[in-house]
Amino acid sequence: MSIIEKAMQTAIRLTPESWLPGGTPDPLMYKHGLIGSPVTRIDGRLKVEGKARFAAEVPLEGMEYAALLYSSIARGRIATLDTTEAEASPGVTLVMTHLNAPRMKPPPVIMSSPKAAGPSDLPIMQDAEIHWNGQPVALVLAKTQEQADHAKSLVRVTYNAAPAVISFDEAKTHARTPDSILGEEPSIEIGDAEAALKQAAFKVDLSYRTPRYNHNAIELHAATVAWEGDKLVVHDATQMVNATAWTLAQVFGLKEAQVRVISPYVGGGFGGKGLWDHQILAAAASRLRGRPVRIMLSREGVFRIVGGRTTTEQRVALGAKADGTLAALIHTGVAAMTTHNACPEQFTFPARHLYAADTIKVAQQVADMDMLANTFMRAPGESVGTYALECALDELAEAMKLDPIELRRRIEPEKDPTSGAAFSSRNLVEAYRRGAEKFGWDQRIATPRSRREGEWLIGMGCATATYPYYRMPGGAARIRLTADGRALVQMASHEMGMGTATVQAQHAAERLGLKFEDVTFDYGDTSLPSGTLAGGSSQTASIGAAVIAATDALTKELLKLAGNDSPLAGLKPEEVEARDGGLCKCDEPDRWESYVSILQRAKRDEVVCEVEAPMPLEVQKYSMHSYGAQFCEVRVSDVTGETRVSRFLGSFDAGRILNAKLAASQFKGGIIMGLGLALTEETLFDERSGRIMNPSLAEYHVPVHMDVPVIDVIWNDIPDPHSPLGARGIGEIGITGVGAAVANAVYNATGKRIRELPITLDKLLLADRL
Ligand code: MOS
Repeated sequence: MSIIEKAMQTAIRLTPESWLPGGTPDPLMYKHGLIGSPVTRIDGRLKVEGKARFAAEVPLEGMEYAALLYSSIARGRIATLDTTEAEASPGVTLVMTHLNAPRMKPPPVIMSSPKAAGPSDLPIMQDAEIHWNGQPVALVLAKTQEQADHAKSLVRVTYNAAPAVISFDEAKTHARTPDSILGEEPSIEIGDAEAALKQAAFKVDLSYRTPRYNHNAIELHAATVAWEGDKLVVHDATQMVNATAWTLAQVFGLKEAQVRVISPYVGGGFGGKGLWDHQILAAAASRLRGRPVRIMLSREGVFRIVGGRTTTEQRVALGAKADGTLAALIHTGVAAMTTHNACPEQFTFPARHLYAADTIKVAQQVADMDMLANTFMRAPGESVGTYALECALDELAEAMKLDPIELRRRIEPEKDPTSGAAFSSRNLVEAYRRGAEKFGWDQRIATPRSRREGEWLIGMGCATATYPYYRMPGGAARIRLTADGRALVQMASHEMGMGTATVQAQHAAERLGLKFEDVTFDYGDTSLPSGTLAGGSSQTASIGAAVIAATDALTKELLKLAGNDSPLAGLKPEEVEARDGGLCKCDEPDRWESYVSILQRAKRDEVVCEVEAPMPLEVQKYSMHSYGAQFCEVRVSDVTGETRVSRFLGSFDAGRILNAKLAASQFKGGIIMGLGLALTEETLFDERSGRIMNPSLAEYHVPVHMDVPVIDVIWNDIPDPHSPLGARGIGEIGITGVGAAVANAVYNATGKRIRELPITLDKLLLADRL
């Protein structure tokens, strides 16, 4: 029996009585056809050929180019501004500062409204106040990019600096508890965890630190903007077209319909491609100058004005009983934030849902700093939270002389440990079993420093991956079925390289019984039916639900049009299914009529249905998460402390996998980003000035080919009965657990526990002397 067959059997056994939406089983949830197959990305060829046009490549008549000048102090006021030399520089047409910028309202901050896209709600270039080192203080517009870049160096600014909180340790002394952590309680206590910890037979009580990380998508943040009368058109690189349009409308005092945001291709998002100051400033400059404007941030510019993952300090304390179950699970800590944003880095989220324990305590605080607003960055919270939690579990397992996988098996919960809810689908133990087998975990020697080849110490580590299931409310899909038997599916969603259009074309084709090439998925434009953002790994399920609703409506409409002269006469929508470009009776496939014939007889050119996705309240009853088991092998030089990841395997439990090829890329991409988090990436923040010191790819090292071994990814492929198509999101789970898997492997190789990321060679060498 193949693995897929086995998984299918398990899956079918897990199928509950209640289905979504509306209690009707989704016939496609377990059907293997187009869905699941490794179709190649339909935009791949365009990108390779350079034909896919990104935001900074849209040519507009009479367009001018913008460059930004960034403040060099962290807090205070602009004292003097001299723009005369810049204005006289060749090609310059405008120098915009707070003195001449149009009056604009601050952008509503994300989480303040379902439609808000602002990472911070500070006013943008409206006064002399400086809030972070790197804040834009002037925008120069010129005929060419080079002229603008040169002229900005001629703008003279002096400042009156004010005392700023730019030391994390100082900020921590004023840590505060926010009202909520992304809508959840900042702290949860079940029983007296501290007392249980004291009495536990085995215990660890550890502190972990993680640094700032910056977004480094290949595509630099860019927008090409133009005013058409009182309408604003923005060609943007964004993962939230609708939220961007709405927020820009608030800023400029427009109606949402007056702003159109178009974003067909995004060269990597990861949470960083939202609405930042540059789009707003470009639109303001364009209005002032009366010309289209293109703004493309330099790599340094991305570091200065696009936030990333914030620094954290976390405590994980675990107490275990002699039988290996947990008496106490404590995960607390503090993350740096600002008073003007809403991203507290939810690092305690994994501990709320992963393991059974008699007592649990999680508590999260934030420490306000004068810095660029931090933001979502691939698995915000879970990426660094799993590092601390899963390293501590490894230490506990060692203290108990227990295999770390066996420890996790013993603390596998039957229901959500903090909410008490049933899991919608959870097969973490199976992911560990399959991963361990494929990786060869039985080759691991528990005693550290047991394997050596010359100067290279070799070790293995594992850790749990986890990421919540999110499905965003709202969002509508429109399906246009034309007389030639083709379908156009439209929804304002996003393609950031993950394969949205490909997967949804697969989905719609399967659901409509059409060939893949007869379906087009149209997205990335606010003129389409409104979509949800591409964030929280939620987009596939959110679009999927809308496509299901729209195809259901289309089926009803087609049955009406088919009328009484059809083999389908008298059939109800639930009695028919799609096949071979038409509809047939489920249990009598010969009662079939093609779409072409139905439309022809009805004398129609097309049938169009647009339906908003229903949001069943039932999902809220379940604890819904994706899981995985990450396995890492490292080689660490005993001489230099250099760490090389030599093998990596991720074994995932992420529901139904809709496209094997694209899913593998998502998982691998997440793991690679995790290798950066573990070993090489770190935003160096000068605590004397609040200045980011390494704003370049030369000094901020994202993993390159030399850093990345062959990565193996496998998955359970067990559908989640409470998600459309059985699929859970897969964009973010890949990075979670990687930091800990690497750190645990480094320990197994060297006997050194590095409790501060990234694990650089200096820390490994100095660890001997601690
Ligand atoms: Mo993700 S950090 O929600 O793009």
